[in-house]
Amino acid sequence: MCGIVGAVAKRNIVPVLVNGLLRLEYRGYDSAGLVVVHEGKLERVRSEGRVAELGQKSANTQGDVGIAHTRWATHGVPSERNAHPHMSRELIAVVHNGIIENYEELRTELTAQGYEFTSDTDTEVIAHLIHSHYAQGSLLAATKMALSQLVGAYAIGVIAADNPHQLIAARKGSPLLLGVGDSEHFVGSDMSALLQVTRNVVYLEEGDVVELNVDNYRIFDAEGTEVQRPVQISELNNDSVELGEYQHYMQKEIHEQPQALADTLESVCNSQSLVPGIFGAEANDIFPRVENILILACGTSNHAGQVARYWLEEIAGIPCIVEIASEYRYRTSVPNPKTLVVTISQSGETADTLAALNHAKATGHSYTLAICNVPESAIIRQSKLRFLTRAGPEIGVASTKAFTTQLAALFLLTLVMAKVRDRLNEAREQQFLHELRHLPAAMLKVLALEPQIAEMSKHFADKHHALFLGRGMHFPIAAEGALKLKEISYIHAEAYPAGELKHGPLALVDKDMPVVSVAPNDTLLEKLKSNLQEVKARGGQLFVFADANTHIHASEGVHILQMPEHAGFLSPILHTAPLQLLAYYVALQKGTDVDKPRNLAKSVTVE
Ligand code: F6R
Repeated sequence: MCGIVGAVAKRNIVPVLVNGLLRLEYRGYDSAGLVVVHEGKLERVRSEGRVAELGQKSANTQGDVGIAHTRWATHGVPSERNAHPHMSRELIAVVHNGIIENYEELRTELTAQGYEFTSDTDTEVIAHLIHSHYAQGSLLAATKMALSQLVGAYAIGVIAADNPHQLIAARKGSPLLLGVGDSEHFVGSDMSALLQVTRNVVYLEEGDVVELNVDNYRIFDAEGTEVQRPVQISELNNDSVELGEYQHYMQKEIHEQPQALADTLESVCNSQSLVPGIFGAEANDIFPRVENILILACGTSNHAGQVARYWLEEIAGIPCIVEIASEYRYRTSVPNPKTLVVTISQSGETADTLAALNHAKATGHSYTLAICNVPESAIIRQSKLRFLTRAGPEIGVASTKAFTTQLAALFLLTLVMAKVRDRLNEAREQQFLHELRHLPAAMLKVLALEPQIAEMSKHFADKHHALFLGRGMHFPIAAEGALKLKEISYIHAEAYPAGELKHGPLALVDKDMPVVSVAPNDTLLEKLKSNLQEVKARGGQLFVFADANTHIHASEGVHILQMPEHAGFLSPILHTAPLQLLAYYVALQKGTDVDKPRNLAKSVTVE
């Protein structure tokens, strides 16, 4: 979703702005723009296309202070006139990520004051509001006054034509970081935009407003009090955001899963036993009091929660429900203060998940645990307990390594909960730890099936629909496979628990409807086989991802991908990878933009 970069320095910062936007491309966008102050004037360049095009258009633009933006349309179609930065009377320029909910009312008031609107965006009201206050004070004071009139979420960057050495930035509900350089300062939506210039970062908090000058910066909290925030050294490695030998980030990230799993499980695999403390010091007190679990997440992260429900109920014997975060806060639920509320999020900034967490807290839940891939993200900061998945930066819009590491984290939660509830004896704990240690190697073996999966993908290139089947804890994996396929190949795909097929969807099955099935060698195998027969009997084309010894054989209309082994409870993690690869290779056949599928954003920071 929208990306922001801003800089104030003693050098031409246009290359920094363009490079920063290139690093933020993965978030998803439809237009881009930048503005700098040059010889007392705002010079703005915008483009409906890619950042590379903006780079070409701005090749002769120069300035020591500037702001830049990639836009993911919310108010107004993707177009150059709606692209940020937005300006007010050639004096104030603003970039914005988020949604201003009262923009219509503000627009009416500002129009009455004589301000002319040149875009359909909610952002333009911010520029005019700041302009309307600027005559009475500094850029900082004018911005603060404008912000006090806004309802909604924002991260903003502001510059003024007559103020060539200053940039004002603020955040509330949308992410923004401050980068501290040597006599130069920066802002960015995430660290990947800033790594080119600094590793020193200040994570701005909700309601913070910051004044950036060349030699110093000042931060004001939500109450307007000047505050010091710690400067942290980012551990993000520049290489981890490079594509390297791979064709796409998605492919790279699929192949990073063995390492990501090893890193996520590192502390546990090196120890001899599991302790609640891996979820934060307070977990020792909280976990024994927990009566049930409520998991809140969106999309792929929600699928991870759905798998965990099977584990938590079966292994730990603890009741668990999983809710779509965007639905939870709008329904009347019955809170129980002894519920552990678990939010799962790759980015830690997903507006729906964040709002669900806040709703849970507002209704009396104080036991909150975040499972998240981004340290210092809003969801991490707003939760009492936390577990950081160590997948590294995920650039491809379709989530892959974040998902499998979320599953690993949720399996650890299951084991710790089981232990706290006296449902895990020493021998079983050691057995599970052994299986977890083996997981990265097992994943490596699954990824070696890539050529066979690439071959299989050819059957999908001319298809418009696909069904995905799974049973038990593999049903959410089938759902994840369907989500991956639709996201990046634009083939309509739906997942069903295999037993549900005959209750309706079987009517869809014919030779043009590929049916993908996850077939682990578990207690539901025989039932699944009967369901597959139902498909075969109706002329459906089956693509079965079958564990060893399942005795499902290839025949006319039945294509088999033989999985190397059966991994017991960890099987959902291993069955995910071939479905990711299938979606990836189908997308290649279809020639879609794999890493940046149409209409989607990586970090969904608006509701
Ligand atoms: C799908 C995908 C999305 C995200 C969802 C939640 O590939 O990436 O469905 O899983 O938008 O995002 P996070 O996990 O960042 O909260």
